[in-house]
Amino acid sequence: MKILVINGPNLNMLGIREPELYGKQDYAALVAFAENACAELGFECEVFQSNHEGAIVDKIQEGYGKVDGIIINPAAYTHTSVAILDALKAVAIPAVEVHLTDVNSREDFRKVSYAGMACLKTYAGFGFEGYRMAAEFLKNYLK
Ligand code: DQA
Repeated sequence: MKILVINGPNLNMLGIREPELYGKQDYAALVAFAENACAELGFECEVFQSNHEGAIVDKIQEGYGKVDGIIINPAAYTHTSVAILDALKAVAIPAVEVHLTDVNSREDFRKVSYAGMACLKTYAGFGFEGYRMAAEFLKNYLK
């Protein structure tokens, strides 16, 4: 079974970007963590990152018929993108939303998640560990 992990804008800046919020580990460490978590659960996985909304929509569409589950951290597009919500609904691939930080305890505008409306579950505030939790959820959901 194959999982597509999608990371949105500015997550490639991990380690540099607001380390007091997002931690000191870089994006390569997050990719390694997600790949490892998937492998431990017996999933094949592809990790994709883009700073562009349309590229994320394209990647979700490409997953149709090819991947069994999606783990998505849409980053700032979480709070703005109806296009990503619609893409997730269009492909209807079981999806789980992840955020490194606890979006609900930050600014009010971060409390709205469009993508989350098409996701089975959200893990927010667990750092990298949220990606493992999402993969475990999908493992149970898909069996
Ligand atoms: C984030 C939370 C978003 O509000 C923010 O725009 C991000 C990262 C997180 O992982 O905590 O870029 O998705």
